[in-house]
Amino acid sequence: MTITIVVGTRPNFMKIAPIIEAIKIKKNQGLDISSRLVHTGQHYDKNLSDTFFEELNIPRPDSNLEVKSGTQAEQTAAIMIGFEKELEQNPCDLVMVVGDVTSTMACAIVAKKAGIKIAHVEAGIRSGDLKMPEEINRIVTDSLTNYFFTTTTYANNNLEKLGVSKSNVFFVGNVMIDTLLKNEDRFIKPLIWNALGLDQKKYMVITLHRPSNVDEAQQLKSLITQIVMLSQQYPIIFPVHPRTKKILEGLDLNFKNLHYIDPLGYLSFNYLVKNALAVLTDSGGITEETTVMNVPCITLRNSTERPETCDIGTNVLVGTDPYKIEDAFKTLFSGKWKQGSIPELWDGKAAKRIVSHLVEIYKL
Ligand code: UD1
Repeated sequence: MTITIVVGTRPNFMKIAPIIEAIKIKKNQGLDISSRLVHTGQHYDKNLSDTFFEELNIPRPDSNLEVKSGTQAEQTAAIMIGFEKELEQNPCDLVMVVGDVTSTMACAIVAKKAGIKIAHVEAGIRSGDLKMPEEINRIVTDSLTNYFFTTTTYANNNLEKLGVSKSNVFFVGNVMIDTLLKNEDRFIKPLIWNALGLDQKKYMVITLHRPSNVDEAQQLKSLITQIVMLSQQYPIIFPVHPRTKKILEGLDLNFKNLHYIDPLGYLSFNYLVKNALAVLTDSGGITEETTVMNVPCITLRNSTERPETCDIGTNVLVGTDPYKIEDAFKTLFSGKWKQGSIPELWDGKAAKRIVSHLVEIYKL
């Protein structure tokens, strides 16, 4: 059995690393299973892509479609054209897509039209916000998926409401957390640590890249300014995503305790998160990682597709409401941030469960 696994962007890489490893283990045990890795090239900067392959020991992709930048439609179209050729030249039994990025949706459409079954890892999550391109990607991908691998029971419930047959839904846990737990003792102190003389739990980390937060320059400016004003002069480290960088360049927004840096690799970014007083973010994956590392997380979004990080974990949704942001900072500085616990099955074994299910489904 050959599985073509698709990756395209930074948050995909840590999700597929444990799956490829689990497939390799089964193959070495003599089972007829192997994988082929296709990188769409949606993310192509070294520090958004190559670094992750090196740090997480992911094999080089068997194929790179090199689509690079473009509008949503341009990127989707380029990925579909490239992936159609890829599947013609390298037939497979199953296409596996992860997460909710443009590459996930585009490759799912191509696979379905080519008559190939689809496995979606991180299926069923929903924010309910159709202004996010990721929500559209989730809906389209799940409408075509054959085997749904889920991270939480919330996702199972969403799929049940959509009428997906229970026999095709597999609650396996979280592959992103497999990678986190596996690499926790390899985290690397980033250079910025000594350069700024950072201390454990005495600085904050911020990441912003959602179009809703960063594409509108004035909104980005007031959001950052407010955060700096509330930060009580704690150093704030801001690894800047390329999308955000383009906007920030025109803003000339400088504060003594706000430190812009290039995007970090996986091992040093998570070192910084683990030791931070708090993280402010509009990412989805980071809310899962802070939950597992028990780090307070303030999410600068109005909705989340990962409600378990708020209900069970350390995450609080504040959106861009100045009052809610202020309240969150008050709770943080009073030392009364909620204690989270770890969602069910986020135990480092999700990828093994996925591959065991595939072995059973395909009777290998
Ligand atoms: C994408 C995903 C998002 C994910 C994020 C993580 C979609 C719809 N969005 O958003 O879900 O959380 O990745 O990073 O798929 N760029 C570079 N170098 C790169 C990659 C991008 O300079 O290596 C620039 C591009 O020119 C583009 C901008 O960054 O203008 C945004 O890239 P894009 O791939 O459109 O989406 P992201 O915002 O990265």
